[in-house]
Amino acid sequence: MARRFNEQKLVIASHNQGKVREIAELLAPYQTEVVSATELDLAEPDETGSTFAANAELKARASAQAAGLAALADDSGLCVNALGGDPGLFSARWAGPAKDFSMAMAEVHRKLRDYEDKSAYFISVLALVWPDGHCETFEGRITGTITDPAHGHNGFGYDPIFVPDGHSLTFGEFEPAAKNAITHRAVAFQKLVNSCFE
Ligand code: IMP
Repeated sequence: MARRFNEQKLVIASHNQGKVREIAELLAPYQTEVVSATELDLAEPDETGSTFAANAELKARASAQAAGLAALADDSGLCVNALGGDPGLFSARWAGPAKDFSMAMAEVHRKLRDYEDKSAYFISVLALVWPDGHCETFEGRITGTITDPAHGHNGFGYDPIFVPDGHSLTFGEFEPAAKNAITHRAVAFQKLVNSCFE
């Protein structure tokens, strides 16, 4: 049984304003005041973990300790089965310092060229850390297929080459609200809310 969340304030351990807004909206019904790592001027730790859960936890833990408050962090990525789960933890890094995702997507296509299996999944792990150090993690996944060439200009990252199972469009072609309703992040958030806030 996950611990229930009864704290009055929660730090979102992210400097991504889009992510912070999305989480704040999700938690709006639960009387929790949400404050971002940016507002508190908290440093972002290096993502040195060897799993998505470890990275989410180390980010949440760093913010919880620095602020003396509960903190929530997420870590996510694209895992391609034929590539042994790559780019995985290195999803952001494959785009290089210029955050060039055309380059990262071209790399996925190049490596995947000789494989018949084009299956992949997006994964998101959320970590919620209490001021006393207790941690709960929640994982969400969405499975799909890598398509070549890329299609669509919506979304971000690897969206233009990912077709979720049961659909024929890439996430890059999805309307943002339709994508957000079914993502790996949505699945993880729902588990978090059901387990700790309901
Ligand atoms: P994070 O911010 O460390 O979790 O890095 C996640 C990386 O995974 C992003 O930079 C994207 O490359 C990729 N990623 C995660 N979620 C998505 C998604 O919904 N669409 C496309 N790419 C994603």
